[in-house]
Amino acid sequence: MNCQELFVAAVKAAENSYSKYSGFSVGAALLTSDGRLFTGCNIENASYSLTICAERTAVFKAVSEGCREFSAIAIAGSGDGDFSRPCYPCGACLQVLSEFCGDDLTIVLADGEHRLSDFMPVRFSGESII
Ligand code: THU
Repeated sequence: MNCQELFVAAVKAAENSYSKYSGFSVGAALLTSDGRLFTGCNIENASYSLTICAERTAVFKAVSEGCREFSAIAIAGSGDGDFSRPCYPCGACLQVLSEFCGDDLTIVLADGEHRLSDFMPVRFSGESII
């Protein structure tokens, strides 16, 4: 699956977004190192802080199915159905991704390909805990 196909999968995943409070739909498509695809969407809650982002939905789905190695994630977000503007991943999702992915994880957005290290040059990790 190439990056364009992965982004299309993220846009498709946004169709299931439950975002009645923000009106902002997000989809994520996470590719495992062995070629499996896990998608996710944002799921909001009337108790706002319980909302989960699309990226974390996808990561938690994958890890709960036994997959922990990833090569790329695509993220698509929009408040008006136009997914051509980049939806950058929030800090919480970057932290969760960094638990399982190295600097070279490809992050596909509407504006092209990035690396995890572009957004997160340093990170808190298990090695930080001594
Ligand atoms: N959101 C995501 O799904 N991923 C991000 O990385 C940033 C924000 C969602 C959370 C909330 O449902 C909506 O976008 C508006 O913040």
